[in-house]
Amino acid sequence: MLDKLSQMKDQAIKEISLAENIQILDEVAQKYFGRKDGALNTILKGLKDLDPDARKDVGGLANQIKLELEAAVEATRATLMKRDVESRLESDWLDVTLPVERRRGHLHPLSIIQYELEDLFQNLGFKILNGPELESDYYNFEALNIPKHHPARDMQDTFYVDNPHNPDKWVMRTHTSNVQVRAMKEFGAPLRAVVPGRVFRYEATDASHDTTFYQLEGFMIGEDISIANLVAVMKTMLSGLFNRDVKVRLRPGYFPFVEPGFELDMQCLICSGKGCSVCKRVGWVEMLGCGLIHPNVLEAGSLDPRKHSGFAFGLGLTRFVMMRYGIEDIRHLNSGDLRFLNQF
Ligand code: DAH
Repeated sequence: MLDKLSQMKDQAIKEISLAENIQILDEVAQKYFGRKDGALNTILKGLKDLDPDARKDVGGLANQIKLELEAAVEATRATLMKRDVESRLESDWLDVTLPVERRRGHLHPLSIIQYELEDLFQNLGFKILNGPELESDYYNFEALNIPKHHPARDMQDTFYVDNPHNPDKWVMRTHTSNVQVRAMKEFGAPLRAVVPGRVFRYEATDASHDTTFYQLEGFMIGEDISIANLVAVMKTMLSGLFNRDVKVRLRPGYFPFVEPGFELDMQCLICSGKGCSVCKRVGWVEMLGCGLIHPNVLEAGSLDPRKHSGFAFGLGLTRFVMMRYGIEDIRHLNSGDLRFLNQF
């Protein structure tokens, strides 16, 4: 029995040293120390047939062998693990000095123009305000002097949304003018603010119409604010945006929330007013709507029209972007198409 034990030990030591990886090592360990049919236990089961002295010798040796084998397994396990880590370090290396191609994102052309205009107006003392895109019928229309069944509603094709809390409908705001009365109520007068933002119209889309586009609304309210102030601010804005002196003119225009109301044209920068294909031979390009804020709107904003007056304007940010970069189809702007976006 003692011989059998030492033979088994020699064999086990050999197999342990030959184990190529941890999995094989575990299998070897199982083969010798396994509770059920491990070789060592199988031999020890024969102990009971031996006389007490021999039992003691064999038992002692078996224990000693067990300890030795366990030590051998653990030593081999440590070696194998170290080898594993080393080989992984070998294969998974990373050269931190290698130059990387860095593809940085950049601003969308709409954001570029929006931020430029925001800077410009901030320098003129205007606040930048935001407002809700899902708006009450009240702030989008009624407070702006566009009553419920007035034909002026038809000027803006609208997405109406059911409002479970209120018989009044919600609307996807059709213009950023929705912030006018909100701002008057919040800040009172004097007030200078611009409101860039996304607006929505129920449109059949084509090269110049989209259901979603961007505007910038602006207003200045105080005592004795006049059309002269309006023209000065508009000229400053357009000269800043196009980086040169521009000429503007006002034509009468109807918007229910201003009185008088105007369309503001800029002299064509391509032909300096002589007439070309860009200005369709008229020498002037229509830029935005504007006017003096209607007394009813000031009142809706809790201001006294006898004391305060103001101008307001609203421009198509999307249209400005198209003009500045010569983009021929509005649908490119919200397409997410990288072939388009990478050009900016
Ligand atoms: N809200 C108008 C629109 O979306 C644009 C506009 C016109 C805004 C005249 C104004 C204004 O503030 O005075 O068509």
